[in-house]
Amino acid sequence: MCFSDKLVIVSGSSSGIGKACAETLLESEAMVIGIDSDNNSIEHPKYIHYSVDVREDEKIAAITNEVHSKYGNIAGLVNAAGIFSHSKPFFDLGIDEWNDVIETNLTGVFILSKYVAQKMIPNKSGKIVNISCIRSKIYKPHMTEYAAAKGGVVALTSAMALDLAPYHIMVNSVAPGFTYTGMTAKSFEHPELRKSSEDLIPAGRIAEPKDIANVVLFLLSDKADYINGETIFADGGYSILK
Ligand SMILES: NC(=O)c1ccc[n+]([C@@H]2O[C@H](COP(=O)([O-])OP(=O)(O)OC[C@H]3O[C@@H](n4cnc5c(N)ncnc54)[C@H](O)[C@@H]3O)[C@@H](O)[C@H]2O)c1
Repeated sequence: MCFSDKLVIVSGSSSGIGKACAETLLESEAMVIGIDSDNNSIEHPKYIHYSVDVREDEKIAAITNEVHSKYGNIAGLVNAAGIFSHSKPFFDLGIDEWNDVIETNLTGVFILSKYVAQKMIPNKSGKIVNISCIRSKIYKPHMTEYAAAKGGVVALTSAMALDLAPYHIMVNSVAPGFTYTGMTAKSFEHPELRKSSEDLIPAGRIAEPKDIANVVLFLLSDKADYINGETIFADGGYSILK
């Protein structure tokens, strides 16, 4: 797939899945704008980094304006910034802990998508890909705020897709299974924990970030021009095993 000189914005680009999406896009000749609360971790002539929190509505609006006026049409957006749950039963969660995850994983997707969509609409084309999770559908204890946010991302994806369909802008999401990233490294570096997770995956292995980035790239490409409002589970078959 070639994205030659197409401009794509990627949130969460300093680590894990977002970073793999940014790097895979750069390999495919795209120009990438990275947005992450952390510092830049990609050195490439066609990569520009903004250190900003996706929850900061006014800053995200200003960055989107700046990117559009400096570099022109925005062809794609990947919403990959996210944090994990606080790993507690919901009745022990503080309101700040709840808000933390909902605002980062769900409201952050709304904010960035809103300002990017406003730039895509006059151009009548564009692709938005949101990163959800298997926890939007298959639940485990002590993950309520994370599951609610990721289920929200699936719903938000389909609802935004309907608002943007008249402008030929497609919105889809990818729901990864267990993926080896900064978020999960502690668990998967532990051989027994890794094995117990791998035993649950029909494909027999934890995903690498690149496995997820490949699906994101497909959804950003013109090969996916007729897919809209969908969530693709990229989980090695985890969610279909009964
Ligand atoms: N790793 C997995 O197994 C897995 C599985 C399913 C879904 N996901 C989802 O994939 C996405 C990426 O996670 P990852 O596993 O690559 O984790 P990661 O920790 O490696 O990367 C997440 C990135 O998001 C950035 N970020 C966090 N909060 C932010 C904020 N408020 N504003 C801007 N940037 C922020 C972090 O700085 C980091 O660079 C997340 O939405 C996560 O929920 C991960």
